[in-house]
Amino acid sequence: MCGIVGYVGSGSAKGVDVVVEGLRRLEYRGYDSAGVAVADRGGVRVRKRAGKLANLQAALSEDPLPASGTAMGHTRWATHGAPTDPNAHPHIDCAGRLAVVHNGIIENFAALRAELEAQGHQLTSQTDTEAVAHLLEDAWEPSGRDLAEAMRHVCRRLEGAFTLVAVHADAPDVVVGARRNSPLVVGRGEGENFLASDVAAFIEHTRNAVELGQDQVVTITADSVTVTDFAGQKAPTRDYHVDWDISAAEKGGHDYFMLKEIAEQPKAVADTLLGRLTPQGRLRLDEMRLSHDELREIDKIVIIACGSAFYAGLTAKYAIEHWTRIPCEVELSSEFRYRDPILNRATLVIAISQSGETMDTLMALRHAREQRARVLAICNTNGSTIPRESDAVLYTHAGPEVGVAATKTFLTQVVACYLIGLYLAQVRESKFGDEVAAEVDQLDRMPAAVRAVLGTMADIRALARELATAKSVLFIGRHVGYPVALEGALKLKELAYMHAEAFAAGELKHGPIALIEEGLPVVVVVPPRGRDVLHDKIVSNVQEIRARGARTIVLAEEGDESVVPWADTLIRLPRVPTLLQPLVATVPLQIFACELAMARGNDVDQPRNLAKSVTVE
Ligand code: F6R
Repeated sequence: MCGIVGYVGSGSAKGVDVVVEGLRRLEYRGYDSAGVAVADRGGVRVRKRAGKLANLQAALSEDPLPASGTAMGHTRWATHGAPTDPNAHPHIDCAGRLAVVHNGIIENFAALRAELEAQGHQLTSQTDTEAVAHLLEDAWEPSGRDLAEAMRHVCRRLEGAFTLVAVHADAPDVVVGARRNSPLVVGRGEGENFLASDVAAFIEHTRNAVELGQDQVVTITADSVTVTDFAGQKAPTRDYHVDWDISAAEKGGHDYFMLKEIAEQPKAVADTLLGRLTPQGRLRLDEMRLSHDELREIDKIVIIACGSAFYAGLTAKYAIEHWTRIPCEVELSSEFRYRDPILNRATLVIAISQSGETMDTLMALRHAREQRARVLAICNTNGSTIPRESDAVLYTHAGPEVGVAATKTFLTQVVACYLIGLYLAQVRESKFGDEVAAEVDQLDRMPAAVRAVLGTMADIRALARELATAKSVLFIGRHVGYPVALEGALKLKELAYMHAEAFAAGELKHGPIALIEEGLPVVVVVPPRGRDVLHDKIVSNVQEIRARGARTIVLAEEGDESVVPWADTLIRLPRVPTLLQPLVATVPLQIFACELAMARGNDVDQPRNLAKSVTVE
């Protein structure tokens, strides 16, 4: 949430351009307002506008900022204060000598604000951030001209989560950043350095990044990067190379990132599997960092996640329990730590988060570690906080996902969970261990199956356009089809702003069937026929709702003729084993939601009120 960019380049006048381009790549993090500041000896100069980045770009064309090699910017997802021009970042001090941008929430801002106002500071916005600009003003020592020292002083007074970046007119060759519980990475260039919430902001200029730790302050100049803790002691950092390039962060001929990311799913799934399957049907997960003895000790698995990642976890529960016979709970991160969960050294907590920054999941994993549970992260973002704070991490390698709604990261999270389940079964030689080779072989075929389903989406697209004015859509499924239904409904809510709800099909008769009325679209995920009881039960459910007037949209595997009489629209899925069906069944639902939202004129990459990385609780 909120995207931040800072830049210093020697002899460069392009600071504003670099920062605005960086903000464009970070706009998925929030698009309530955007702003940019430059610093030179004359003062700091700021342009900021409510609304999308385009509004700021228009303001900059009308009234450009002076050319500068030192600049910073912000794209906002509003927490404190409405999305207006005055509440947009950067915020400045009384004298107009310094500017600051912020991502996170400063929990003690009300007390700080009252204290500042009592001292005569005039604050003009409703944000928590503005207090920081005035605190920095007070902490600034004109003789020392040390912005990092002022930042350390201020950070020691702040409570909550924050990434801060600041510039000062009297130190115009530096940009200073600080982080606690919120992301910030450094990009090392040649004669230029960068700070950003995400490497996407500077990948065009450099792929050399530096991971910052918790409670650190970083100072960049054109040719140096200095990192300390909040007390001023030199702090350790980790350099890493970003393994994707700028083309991965472009639309590549698609109208929306989301369409590109849906199309990339066969490759994303293949990349999650790459190097982890052996030709002998065994799994290699070198990065697990937990010994075989430790894995054998596990007697309970708890998956924590939010949103789509939570649904990936729900899907995984069916597979993990089946293959390993270890009890597996799946819990929303935001609920987990508040209910005093029972955890110990024998509990494996799997924290699923594509961004690696989701605050609810981060707090839940910290709670788990305090209870001595072992934590394994599933993540798509190298260098992010959740993997760094976990005992081990399995990266999904899906490449950058810019569209706000999860698509390829969802599919690859399911794959990563399955790899963990199969690996546990292999290491523990569970009763179902001998299924591992067969399942590994099936997993290996999934990129092709996902490609096949992508090739047959014309009917679902046409249906989505036809239903663009519908009021509501229901989704039902059983077993792993239930989390698929939940994910389908979430996609439709967030993209089309339409009422959509998912039910376990068996629950219909316990209440929700009362919602069925003439013409109500109901999407039904039918399991493969291999599990006959499961399959036949849902076919009965389709008949029950159709008898009550529902318009049935049935997803069923090729060759399943039993559903034909009851399907108003039939979407065919490739034949795959039941546990793997979510990997093909989710794809038409992503396309359905995306197409329907586009037919309603919505921006599917930046749905209203949302942000890609949710760094507040
Ligand atoms: C939905 C979506 C969200 C995320 C959730 C968790 O399309 O993208 O529900 O899945 O906010 O995000 P991560 O995986 O970054 O923790």
